[in-house]
Amino acid sequence: MEPTRQIIVALDCDNRAAAQDIVDQLGNGCRFYKVGLELLTATGPEFIKHLVAQGKEVFLDLKLFEIPNSVAGAVRVAGALGVSMVTVHSMGGTGIMAAAVDAARAFPELRVLALTVVTSMTESDLADIGVGVSAESQVLRLAGLAQQAGCHGVIASPQEVSALRGLLGGGALIVTPGVALPGGSPGEHARPGTPRAAIAAGASHVVVGRTVTGAMDPASAFRLVHGNLQLQ
Ligand code: C5P
Repeated sequence: MEPTRQIIVALDCDNRAAAQDIVDQLGNGCRFYKVGLELLTATGPEFIKHLVAQGKEVFLDLKLFEIPNSVAGAVRVAGALGVSMVTVHSMGGTGIMAAAVDAARAFPELRVLALTVVTSMTESDLADIGVGVSAESQVLRLAGLAQQAGCHGVIASPQEVSALRGLLGGGALIVTPGVALPGGSPGEHARPGTPRAAIAAGASHVVVGRTVTGAMDPASAFRLVHGNLQLQ
């Protein structure tokens, strides 16, 4: 896939003007944005409609964890907005993932991605909620469940990508946040945790947030990410 299609910039902003400023600075270079709960809550759906109308793809990171009927309703509204990706928590079980996938069928471009274990959770957090296995086993278990429920892919940290690609096969989307540039130098070789390393390990897309949006010059930071993906 062409690198521009693989880079998703996370617009983690608390107001529309800040998000629009980043989109303006990145211009035609960036075509894929992630809108999460912060920006959605601040702007409502209008900014999403605006991005779609500008020809941008939108990953709407709703992290749905609700009863199946409510999940299906939210996915239908997301699909009607024209977004390309929406997220559901696999810890909610097969019922809500299947409901999300069913609701998405009316929108052929919409992909349902499953979150497994959120990266901020430790094994001690898992033990606290009664999950007595390692984070990796739980991630693989939930990803398998997501695939059986018909999800189009998963969200995964750079450390999990390789095992997940082996488990899910070539067709699944694996979208990887938590990546950063190696020391900010375009010529440096990719190393674990870089966009390049994540794609080399089997990710289909990488999500970059503050690396780009927090840079003095977001457009040049975006070019560095793009350049990192082109390293062999
Ligand atoms: O850290 P960064 O600003 O690049 O984060 C961009 C997005 O990636 C955030 O919106 C967050 O949802 C996600 N993220 C994640 N796990 C991490 C880091 C970031 O899911 N360890």
